[in-house]
Amino acid sequence: MASLKTFTSCFVISSLLLACSWFVAIEAHGSAPIVKGLSWTFYESSCPKVESIIRKELKKVFKKDIGQAAGLLRLHFHDCFVQGCDGSVLLDRSASGPSEQDAPPNLTLRAEAFKIIEQLRSLVHKACGRVVSCSDIVAISARDSVFLSGGPDYDVPLGRRDGLNFATQDATNANLPPPSANADTILSSLSTKNLDATDVVALSGGHTIGIGHCSSFTDRLYPTQDSTMDKTFANNLKKTCPKADTNATTVLDIRSPNKFDNKYYVDLMNRQGLFTSDQDLYVNKRTRGIVTSFAVNETLFFEKFVLSMTKMGQLSVLTGNQGEIRAKCSVRNSDNTYIKLETEVEEGIEALSLFK
Ligand code: HEM
Ligand SMILES: *[C@@H]1O[C@H](CO)[C@@H](O)[C@H](O)[C@H]1NC(C)=O
Ligand SMILES: *[C@@H]1O[C@H](CO)[C@@H](O)[C@H](O)[C@H]1NC(C)=O
Ligand SMILES: *[C@@H]1O[C@H](CO)[C@@H](O)[C@H](O)[C@H]1NC(C)=O
Repeated sequence: MASLKTFTSCFVISSLLLACSWFVAIEAHGSAPIVKGLSWTFYESSCPKVESIIRKELKKVFKKDIGQAAGLLRLHFHDCFVQGCDGSVLLDRSASGPSEQDAPPNLTLRAEAFKIIEQLRSLVHKACGRVVSCSDIVAISARDSVFLSGGPDYDVPLGRRDGLNFATQDATNANLPPPSANADTILSSLSTKNLDATDVVALSGGHTIGIGHCSSFTDRLYPTQDSTMDKTFANNLKKTCPKADTNATTVLDIRSPNKFDNKYYVDLMNRQGLFTSDQDLYVNKRTRGIVTSFAVNETLFFEKFVLSMTKMGQLSVLTGNQGEIRAKCSVRNSDNTYIKLETEVEEGIEALSLFK
């Protein structure tokens, strides 16, 4: 009876495919619902070691440079927000035109993050063959980045397939709000993805690790200083960025820049949030109380962050026979000359065996 109702509402809003797949959530883990086609045990028989291979490798990577964790977490966010978690952010521009990567928000993604994902793919495919998608590798890497930086560990539903389509620059810009956006803008932007105020505040907590470039926040310093910003904090930022376009970076969370904790919210309460999109969460009436609740209770933040990440990680995913499993994360299989040869050889062998 309950499922019948679900399908009715799903039919009525069938034009909203995204919302539809969300409501058809049929399984639960903790209290995180999962969309049809993904599973908590997807690679149990085809690649049981996938998660341990990735974690082991990332431990090595982060031991050398914990900053890479932030790069990988952000990569998953960009992948999911633009055209769904389909690995499209990983695609290099092709002969057929520019890609998601050419849009301004890409320009501050870390080049190393792309390399790490490709390295993980190669390790995983060596162990299991071409069965694990690049988009799943990105999702698992984001989780491990959170955990290995001191945050919560959590299960990631798996079974995403890699997209065949590039996202346009317009789609990229439209789906990734700028750091100059205020909380109302962020709230309405994320509500189109079924993410509510708690999700907005929890996901923004990703800014508890990592760095930002001057150009992402100097609009708050020049020509006039944002009055909501703590004065000492502002003066220090001006030293790092003497000009609006100085090519330098600073940490997103001054209290514990490399640790995944709830200090980001303490920063906001002290008017030391770096971007307008951060600080305004403590100005806006709809989000201020949530910020405070996370600042005083890290367990609560971790709990909500996991729920919101699980939601974000399932945005418009491709499953089943949709998309493909890329043999190289930056190239669609149809553009991959090596794969073409491999497939032709396989088909040739199959054809030969018919005559046996
Ligand atoms: C809500 C809207 C968001 C806005 C406006 C935003 C904006 C930004 C900007 C401008 C930067 C710095 C880019 C640079 O100057 O180098 C950044 C960095 C970062 N963002 Fe966000 N972000 C948002 C949401 C998220 C979410 C949902 C996550 C993950 C859960 C996330 C994780 C990160 C991380 C980890 C970094 C640091 C990256 C690094 O150190 O390489 N952000 N974000
Ligand atoms: C997108 O950013 C990554 C990381 O900086 C870089 O490796 C890649 O070449 C960029 N893509 C384009 C098309 O500029
Ligand atoms: C910014 O500085 C870095 C490191 O010094 C350099 O690699 C990069 O090319 C510079 N970017 C711009 C836009 O000048
Ligand atoms: C903090 O949040 C957790 C998780 O929701 C809750 O169980 C706990 O009671 C909260 N602690 C306090 C001191 O409110």
